[in-house]
Amino acid sequence: MSSQSLYKVSGDIAANALVNNDKYKTMYQESIVNPEGFWREHGKRIDWIKPYTKIKKTSFDDHNLSINWFYDGTLNASANCLDRHLAEHSDRVAIIWEGDNAREQRKITYGELHADVCKFANALRSQGVCRGDIVTIYMPMVPEAAVAMLACARIGAVHSVVFGGFSPDSIATRVIDGKSKVIITSDEGMRGGRAIPLKRNVDDALKNPDVTTIEKVIVLKRTGGKVDWQEGRDIWWHALMETASEHCQPEEMDAEAPLFLLYTSGSTGNPKGVLHTTGGYMVYASMTHEYVFDYKAGEVYWCTADVGWITGHSYMVYGPLANGATVLIHEGVPNHPSPARLGEMIDRHKVNILYTAPTLIRALMAEGKQHFDKFDGSSLRIMGSVGEPINPEAWRWYHEVIGHEHCPIVDTWWQTETGGILIAPLPGATDTKPGSATRPFFGVQPALVDNMGNILNGENEGNLVLLDSWPGQMRTIYGDHERFVLTYFKTFRGMYFTGDGARRDEDGYYWITGRVDDVINVSGHRLGTAEVESALVSHELVAEAAVVGYPHDIKGQGIYAYVTLTRGTEETEELRQELRQWVRKEIGALATPDLIQWATGLPKTRSGKIMRRFLRKIAANEVTNLGDASTLADPAVIETLIESRLNRT
Ligand code: PRX
Repeated sequence: MSSQSLYKVSGDIAANALVNNDKYKTMYQESIVNPEGFWREHGKRIDWIKPYTKIKKTSFDDHNLSINWFYDGTLNASANCLDRHLAEHSDRVAIIWEGDNAREQRKITYGELHADVCKFANALRSQGVCRGDIVTIYMPMVPEAAVAMLACARIGAVHSVVFGGFSPDSIATRVIDGKSKVIITSDEGMRGGRAIPLKRNVDDALKNPDVTTIEKVIVLKRTGGKVDWQEGRDIWWHALMETASEHCQPEEMDAEAPLFLLYTSGSTGNPKGVLHTTGGYMVYASMTHEYVFDYKAGEVYWCTADVGWITGHSYMVYGPLANGATVLIHEGVPNHPSPARLGEMIDRHKVNILYTAPTLIRALMAEGKQHFDKFDGSSLRIMGSVGEPINPEAWRWYHEVIGHEHCPIVDTWWQTETGGILIAPLPGATDTKPGSATRPFFGVQPALVDNMGNILNGENEGNLVLLDSWPGQMRTIYGDHERFVLTYFKTFRGMYFTGDGARRDEDGYYWITGRVDDVINVSGHRLGTAEVESALVSHELVAEAAVVGYPHDIKGQGIYAYVTLTRGTEETEELRQELRQWVRKEIGALATPDLIQWATGLPKTRSGKIMRRFLRKIAANEVTNLGDASTLADPAVIETLIESRLNRT
């Protein structure tokens, strides 16, 4: 690594930061050598109803798996995000909201947010929601999404947020898995100037005969668009709020009581319900938010993620609100109506910290710098990146055009499963290198292993694993603990396997190279290739399908599908479009295949297993060195696929 690629921590930033390099080293060392002592101290950043005395009982042994943190303490997550700020900061703005249309603006103080959450918590109770019930939330990016989540937490209900871009079928699978009785939605959502029919999607999901548990649908009136109404089942949010009391005592929850479920894609099968619990998660989300973004009281913090993803949970709601931050929430997309929107919003709201994804940066880059000619950006201090590897060109563009070369970039690596950031620079401590997530957060022990599970030392490349637990770790896959153990702890015994590959350089910095399993990352959205395949084969004209990711300039990875049609079906452009629409309808727009190649045959071993590495290479247009095809049942298939490949860039 040449010294030119090293961006040194500036003296100014280090002097005022929470942590400088020496302090990082001391704290990290302590967190590894004495985790009990370290977390005993840092667990206090959260208000406990009954303080913990027990800190950590964890084991990654697959026969004896246990993950428990602060496990004799009790607390309430919503009280930590709201009540504890009231004495001194009731008038501080908790949420600044800007609509898809910039003329719509709202500001909500901590006092007001507390009142809304209490009222909605009572409203939920009035609809029969009890401690431990799973409530599905399918909402646009409005403050009420956070209100709904915090209201669940207040009464000990477990929320399961479904991303607003998902289809009725995807809502149905999640509702069925969680046996939800109540779903909270909105008439419509607004995104990029378009109305998204959220209520209609919910209605369609509930028509699925396997959805049998839903008793109530609570509907927020966002646009006033026309909706169908089922008397007795559907209730307006505002009607419930009108009569609800502003007083609601927070439930006392065990540290290990479930806080939320969030479904995410794996290599196989349906999306998994990742379960996070209360105490460790709150400590970890709030601590990483404060340290990684070097958050200072009074600063305006903007995370562009949707609330339907883990980033929206940990770094738009729980982490920042626990820290008393002022959070900017944007309903739409930051490059609509023009790429200038991002800069305009930063200037309009004097944003100090921005947290976004490489795919947005690449999209803005492609539009050209001129959209930032009027951008002032002087409020901006720290910038984050999340969700996928950031290529050095995008990193530099972000640094120059948005950060005006003086804002440290924190490239944060983590996962739905990890609950919070695991590898990232700290602004006042870590010199950065474009494309590297750099060093582990406190208490995090990454390692690289070869395919046999041997630990690799020094400069090396391998599978990224974690050797010990951290408080924000997921505790199980809802309803399928065996799958949890199998997915994360059996590949490499005694270690948590992330599914990612990584390289470690001479400075001990980590460079995430991407997934090593059958998960793809499209615009920072995680998808299982198996899910897209199963959507494709559910079409009556599709006999077989194999899906892989391929490098895509803006999205990071695009979706490349090889499709074998049923005998006698004609391979037409119309059918190709129909299949794209089909997948979109089955899963959601984010799963729409970019390229569909007709394949009369797929490369299979004699036992019938599809050899995906060939398909990945052909999709990536890397066709000169495909490797040994001798184990294939019919090696000639490869030549045919190469000839008709679609990505020739
Ligand atoms: O492959 C890694 C990639 O996103 C995956 C996790 O996706 P998800 O659970 O949806 O969570 C995304 C938001 C935390 C990881 O396994 N990933 C996430 N952040 C980075 C990343 N890859 C490289 N660099 C990152 N900063």
